[in-house]
Amino acid sequence: MFTLLQLSDCHLSADPEARYRGENPDANLKRLLPACRALSPDGLILSGDVSEDASPESYRRIADLLRDLAPNRAWLPGNHDERDVMAEHLGTDYDAGPLLKWGGWEIVLLDSARPDDPRGHLDQDRLAPLASLSGQAPALAFIHHQPIPVHAPWIDKYGMIEPDLLWQRLDAHTIKAIGFGHVHQAFVGQHQGITCLSAPSTVANSQAETERFTPDPTGPKARWYRLRVDGAWSTGLISAG
Ligand SMILES: [Fe+2]
Ligand SMILES: [Fe+2]
Repeated sequence: MFTLLQLSDCHLSADPEARYRGENPDANLKRLLPACRALSPDGLILSGDVSEDASPESYRRIADLLRDLAPNRAWLPGNHDERDVMAEHLGTDYDAGPLLKWGGWEIVLLDSARPDDPRGHLDQDRLAPLASLSGQAPALAFIHHQPIPVHAPWIDKYGMIEPDLLWQRLDAHTIKAIGFGHVHQAFVGQHQGITCLSAPSTVANSQAETERFTPDPTGPKARWYRLRVDGAWSTGLISAG
């Protein structure tokens, strides 16, 4: 069994004392780490908005902090990230995919981010990694933006611009689930027989399905997946405790 940990929306800045929605991103991520380590993850995926300001310092700091968390580490960008800066400063210890073969599964990383727009962007180039799935192994996809609405107007207005481009390319026989970030809240849904799962933020979350961002007092969170080679899987959230 392969344990995958998804950390999302860490929003670190160059200045480690900078605040994000009134919280300290470094401190909240560090508060979450004991629960992350207790899972003994085999793989780590950073699903975007790793940085708030796309600074080299923020990427270098998180790379150092998380390097020993899991033997396999990968990332995809969010709308606050800059892909080239991220690639350079996360370095070769972190894999940009777009296809990972972990634990007998195929995991495809899709890039929906554009630094000049908080909404999700898709086109045939961004979706091309889906063609690399063999169809012979159970698969997951990860993307920063929500592929379906999460019923929270404050963040659904910054959802995927043309989600149908994605959904035309997905089928439930190959993709078991699609994991995302961006929404800063817990969410589980289904579309076309595929489970859609958010990872809440490691710094600041909203209560689910609210009109405006409404701080969730239960603190930073992460999502885990347990993947069996026969295609069975389970998932859940962890908190800082
Ligand atoms: Fe975010
Ligand atoms: Fe985002």
